[in-house]
Amino acid sequence: MANDPRAEHFWMPFTANRQFKASPRLLEGAEGMYYTDTAGRQVLDGTAGLWCCNAGHGRREITEAVSRQIARMDFAPTFQMGHPLPFELAERLARISPEGLNRVFFTNSGSESADTALKVALAYQRAIGQGSRTRLIGRELAYHGVGFGGISVGGMGNNRKAFGSSLLPGIDHLPHTLDLKRNAFTRGLPEHGVELADELERLVTLHGAENIAAVIVEPMSGSAGVILPPQGYLQRLREITKKHGILLIFDEVITGFGRVGEAFAAQRWGVTPDILTCAKGLTNGAVPMGAVFVSEQIHEAFMHGPESTIEFFHGYTYSGHPVACAAALATQEIYQRENLFQKAIELEDYWQDALFSLQGLPNVTDIRTVGLVAGIQFAPHAESVGRRGYEVFRQCFEDGLLARASGDTIALSPALIVERAHIDAMVERLADAIRKAA
Ligand SMILES: Cc1ncc(COP(=O)(O)O)c(C=O)c1O
Repeated sequence: MANDPRAEHFWMPFTANRQFKASPRLLEGAEGMYYTDTAGRQVLDGTAGLWCCNAGHGRREITEAVSRQIARMDFAPTFQMGHPLPFELAERLARISPEGLNRVFFTNSGSESADTALKVALAYQRAIGQGSRTRLIGRELAYHGVGFGGISVGGMGNNRKAFGSSLLPGIDHLPHTLDLKRNAFTRGLPEHGVELADELERLVTLHGAENIAAVIVEPMSGSAGVILPPQGYLQRLREITKKHGILLIFDEVITGFGRVGEAFAAQRWGVTPDILTCAKGLTNGAVPMGAVFVSEQIHEAFMHGPESTIEFFHGYTYSGHPVACAAALATQEIYQRENLFQKAIELEDYWQDALFSLQGLPNVTDIRTVGLVAGIQFAPHAESVGRRGYEVFRQCFEDGLLARASGDTIALSPALIVERAHIDAMVERLADAIRKAA
């Protein structure tokens, strides 16, 4: 496909299109922990696709559930109509969600989940007579997808700057929690930085609590290069939001479904938000689907007025799509049967030891790990930021490992079926790539 003019038509997302098309990396098969590329090489998947195939690739139960469902009923509307599957799935998800978050709104992606959560927050505040609460607070370096709501509360400069004044008004941002000076090479949650949550008090003083609807954060951010919450930070955010009647939204699109141990990071770190978003691992990445969990109390606030009224003017044609529901139900069955949410805890020490063996390699300035996630950060190349990260990523792929580069950080997030031998192979290939890229 290299330099093939037929390749010009696909405008690739979040990709350097010209560079890629001159030297493509194409996958065509996937099974267990491995991809097969178009040259027939086996590529060890260090990223569970894109943080989504938590049960590994090619799970027969999911394939069969999807095939059966598409043959039985390809599509059915869920606006003023219904079919049994989203009811069944919502009930099933409510069994594993953080306590009290047992009402589920379906979307098709993480971006839609983020925008849905923000809209629920605004509409909820209005429904309880707090209509002046319209301000939303995000965080620097956050990623909440690519909808206008998500990029507005998001904090990754490149995702925002081309869209200038089209971002939502009335947004503010907390500082990010990446602090290499104090926390570099910490295993697990960093020791320093709980006070960064107090910045929310400053924003409350500045804007007035009566004007703030919600705060949205990723409990752990993946896309900006695996940034972990300092110890006590999420608890502090919870206390401050509660005190001021501000809703707390956790974006668990990456952390959901076992990535850091437990079903959700909220459970691993013992902090329950008011609203929680997810996507990716919900269907093991097999069919696009996202979901937003809200507390019963929030849901109840909408259930007023005449029963013939539509309570929330929001939804997607494909909310609760039957094929996506079938994939999600089969996926949840696998997670439960194989006890996969425990895997990130069981393997955490082994994972950390393996990753920390990279400390001391050329240009490695930090290693961050928790659950089955790792971020390995490099000193930027003198020529440009991101070049070294890309070079390591490219070299990894050449050596048969799919990693993910985010600027000068390489992220690893293998499927939860990963075994020790896979971890050893990943770290060995990554170490080689780091040396070659030095
Ligand atoms: C925390 C978070 N929120 C939202 C999204 C967006 O998800 P999607 O690409 O499915 O829209 C992502 C994607 O990586 C994410 O990490």
